[in-house]
Amino acid sequence: MQTLLATASRLQQLHCAACHAPHSAFSLQRVSSCCAQPLVADYDLSAPLTRAAGIQATENSMWRYAALLPLLDEANRVSLGEGWTPMLALPRLAARYGFLDLRLKDEGQNPTGSFKARGLSMAISKAKELGVTGCIIPTAGNAGVAMAAYCARAGLRAVVVMPRHTPQAFREECYWYGAEVHLVDGLINDCAARVRELNAAGELLDVSTLKEPYRLEGKKTMGYELAEQLGWRLPDVLLYPAGGGTGLIGIWKALREMQALGWLPATAQLPRMVAVQAANCCPLVETREGRQVNCQAYMGKPTIANGLAVPRPLGEPLMLDVLDESDGLALAITDEQMLEGLRELGKEEGLFVAPEGAAVWMAARHLLRTGWIRPEEQVLLLNTGSAQKYLENIVGLA
Ligand SMILES: Cc1ncc(COP(=O)(O)O)c(C=O)c1O
Ligand SMILES: [Zn+2]
Repeated sequence: MQTLLATASRLQQLHCAACHAPHSAFSLQRVSSCCAQPLVADYDLSAPLTRAAGIQATENSMWRYAALLPLLDEANRVSLGEGWTPMLALPRLAARYGFLDLRLKDEGQNPTGSFKARGLSMAISKAKELGVTGCIIPTAGNAGVAMAAYCARAGLRAVVVMPRHTPQAFREECYWYGAEVHLVDGLINDCAARVRELNAAGELLDVSTLKEPYRLEGKKTMGYELAEQLGWRLPDVLLYPAGGGTGLIGIWKALREMQALGWLPATAQLPRMVAVQAANCCPLVETREGRQVNCQAYMGKPTIANGLAVPRPLGEPLMLDVLDESDGLALAITDEQMLEGLRELGKEEGLFVAPEGAAVWMAARHLLRTGWIRPEEQVLLLNTGSAQKYLENIVGLA
């Protein structure tokens, strides 16, 4: 007899990304106690669960995949309607450049204007479930705004630390959600140092990228969604703007989970994953092309794609694994190219995307030209945010 609701969470445990040691998923965790590396959630994927039973089809948000998410009690869900974003064809750009099938998943239509809503909805829901009373975050902008919104909705204290040069709209929105905002000279790694000072006593939960296990689980819903929206046929190439890496790692995790569940054939050809970075801050490209051993001493510069200014991502090894396993690539795009991409997406397709999304489009264009992408392949661009909050970076340049 089936005793579990098909849609109840199948969360089992967490494991250390470096040494795989198990950690409890039922107490508050940060990084692994063994290696100080990210903790990754594991689910029971062996008990049968069909797509029809596992997906709540009437739920038009990322929570339609609640069975594969870590929240144990639905009463703790902190939601603003994140996820289930549109998958748009780009017919005019496809015709102009010679792509047979070019699409864009528009994460700019999420609450607070970016895909960060998914990760923070999940992390703040789990924080509430585990009795946390306040959260702190170092951010390039979007994640801080999302954390502030979800903390407000959950009744938690919110402290946001962002670079001083971040466009004002990010900071201003945090204030309207009642968050405490600190500005730091430098990039997100300098903000992380300030977070450590501000939270020396540890009374706030640090929800930095991959320093708690659950933002990744929210982000992975992009992978479930794109498979479902494409009728369970995956694109040949998936391009993603990678900063801290939760999106790239999360989507790959989702594809693997769907294979384990039988939602995708075990032999399904998975997409080649492209990590798109900014030329001003491209640690992954430098490591992958052998110009450095790893990102630990990498120095980045600001870019108009604020979310890509992450010089030393904790998730670098996990991102490199995704690129290796998928036969993918890391590629850098200049700020000038991003502006060109913004103009094209705006004028040809009516999309006002974040510079991170414009970078992804320019990467696809480049890879088609070099032959790495073939014209007949299905290409999916992930646009992670809306341009609205970036106006200061782009004003007058249309
Ligand atoms: C719009 C946008 N795109 C991409 C990123 C990079 O995100 P990830 O941590 O998933 O690599 C960010 C991070 O701030 C962002 O705000
Ligand atoms: Zn470990």
